[in-house]
Amino acid sequence: MKLADIFFPFRSDMNYIERELEQAVDAQERVLQKTSSHLLKAGGKRIRPVFVLLGGKFGTYDLERLKNVAVSLELIHMATLVHDDVIDDAELRRGKATVKAKWDNRIAMYTGDYIFARALSIITELKNPEIHKILSHAIVEMSIGEIEQIRDLNNWNQNLRCYLRRIKRKTALLIAISCQLGAIAADATEAVVRSLFWYGYNVGMAFQITDDILDFTGDAKTLGKPAGSDLRQGNITLPALYMYYCSSMADEIKQRLVPGKGEFQSPGLLEQTVRDIRSGEGIDYAHKLADRYLQRATQALDVLPDNANRDALLKIAHFIGGRQA
Ligand code: IPE
Ligand code: IPE
Ligand code: MG
Ligand code: MG
Ligand code: MG
Repeated sequence: MKLADIFFPFRSDMNYIERELEQAVDAQERVLQKTSSHLLKAGGKRIRPVFVLLGGKFGTYDLERLKNVAVSLELIHMATLVHDDVIDDAELRRGKATVKAKWDNRIAMYTGDYIFARALSIITELKNPEIHKILSHAIVEMSIGEIEQIRDLNNWNQNLRCYLRRIKRKTALLIAISCQLGAIAADATEAVVRSLFWYGYNVGMAFQITDDILDFTGDAKTLGKPAGSDLRQGNITLPALYMYYCSSMADEIKQRLVPGKGEFQSPGLLEQTVRDIRSGEGIDYAHKLADRYLQRATQALDVLPDNANRDALLKIAHFIGGRQA
């Protein structure tokens, strides 16, 4: 099933969110106007705002309230993408040149900050300190996650736990709070809020594991962003870690590294390893782990009423397991 089919019942509310997003980045300053609308118009899955709306369906659904959370979370996501493309030195995002490629790193820094500040200003429409507390905690964690990733570049002495903690911080928490804050803004019960957070956390873990798989197996055209770049950047993700520690190629891969250092002895050996990982056992392992998280996500929904909205959450979890972009 395609994401658009799952979103179909929400299309009119999502169109409204889309218009609000456009307004949200409508800057007086010409460069900020261009850079931020460039990324917005390039598209994207809009999965976080959909989670907000779905979370809201389990309480008193009020689009006027929920839009503040939905727009804000998509903007925070966009701001982190602009910054992420600086850190990852990426040329392509959502099928278009990244802000850092089309303009430059300095412009990208302030575009990210601008979008981020717009997100904060919108969410303050909601006078609930709990929402702001949850949001700031997630952003602090995300910054820590990205810094940990920089610290651990080319560090093969990291275990599965390090990897999981990092992706929890950089990706899963924002998805978790999308579901959670949607429910809180709709005054859902505590049990519902908890189960939606747990669903979002597990879906978010699977989401980043799948992103890391696709970095090896996907193609840039479908992904709308460069493929194969994680390992070239020294970002050691789950498929690579598995190959290094657990696969039949473990010894060989270790021998390709400069002794005492995490870098490859030559660009050729690096490219060979990217190819080996693409067709190696680590991909299968990563898929299995992603599926485990998706199972847990599904279980988390057990306490919710069995209705079309719960069904949509189940379908999104299913989509994430098989996504190609
Ligand atoms: C990309 O997120 C960054 C990750 C957390 C993996 P998405 O895959 O949701 O990006 P868009 O919004 O659809 O472009
Ligand atoms: C997720 O990681 C990025 C953020 C949480 C900001 P990636 O660096 O893998 O995301 P992509 O692949 O560039 O979208
Ligand atoms: Mg990154
Ligand atoms: Mg990146
Ligand atoms: Mg990635």
